[in-house]
Amino acid sequence: MPTVFLNGEFLPHDQARVSVMDRGFLFGDGVYEVIPAYGGHLFRLQPHLQRLDNSLQAVRIPNPYTEPQWQGILEELVGENAGTDQSVYLQVTRGVMERRDHAFPADLKPTVFAMSNPIPEPDPALAEHGITAISLDDIRWQSCHIKAITLLPNVLLRQQAVEAGAAEAILLRDGEATEGAASNLFIVRDGLLITPPKGPLLLPGITRDLVIELAARHGIPYREGAISEAELRGADEVWLTSSTKEIMPVTTLDGVPVGDGRPGPLYRQMHGIYREYKQAVREGRAG
Ligand code: PDD
Repeated sequence: MPTVFLNGEFLPHDQARVSVMDRGFLFGDGVYEVIPAYGGHLFRLQPHLQRLDNSLQAVRIPNPYTEPQWQGILEELVGENAGTDQSVYLQVTRGVMERRDHAFPADLKPTVFAMSNPIPEPDPALAEHGITAISLDDIRWQSCHIKAITLLPNVLLRQQAVEAGAAEAILLRDGEATEGAASNLFIVRDGLLITPPKGPLLLPGITRDLVIELAARHGIPYREGAISEAELRGADEVWLTSSTKEIMPVTTLDGVPVGDGRPGPLYRQMHGIYREYKQAVREGRAG
């Protein structure tokens, strides 16, 4: 029986209980993180915990734990299954209220939940053939930098993509491509890697930041800049990134091949660099 963490206790997941008066349940009032672990080592833990703290501050939920406390909890969960690659999910909600009210009392105790589940290696076919994406209007709110558990727009957008036979939706707002329904966006144009700058309209992805860091380290030219819809459609390469899916080359967008319809040369280079980095995390040589 997999063990989960709930409000200070480690217990079998079928014994973990949350009140129906929890604001996470009734309002989606909470934030979350997803952190992979390779060979028992948490991937980019500090940036993930920093983003968690930023999200908590943005929605005015006190951070219930210090970084070392978070680290201890998450390492204990990952340690249960250290032999396999893991994905840790954690969420903090504003807590349990006495009666339903949109406005929140100041003294609620946040509800903290975390679990760790095995993740498979990305399918090698993905690196070979890429994925299909469709573009959709970004119907989300104006605070997409907060990793809120309130994910209904993302759920509906991803579902629309899946029902159209695509793996992901690339979101367009005011003529610009922002990110995917659960991933960040990169394009390649004339050898230059471009990703939209951080701001309220997209999630500051940890994988995004790592890809930029690795590009800088390996002399790959990159720029953080807006991507217009026309630039997206005319790109030589399109990539989507996330902690759990890593780097996904998009080879078909809205039924039209991207570039020559196969993962491009810069993707192949970055894919190799990323795999090396992941191996270094696995061996405890990188974080
Ligand atoms: N989602 N943008 C959105 C809207 C996301 O939901 C995610 C990740 C990302 C990529 O962020 P990162 O590289 O830090 O994983 C970008 C997670 C994986 C999820 O909701 O399951």
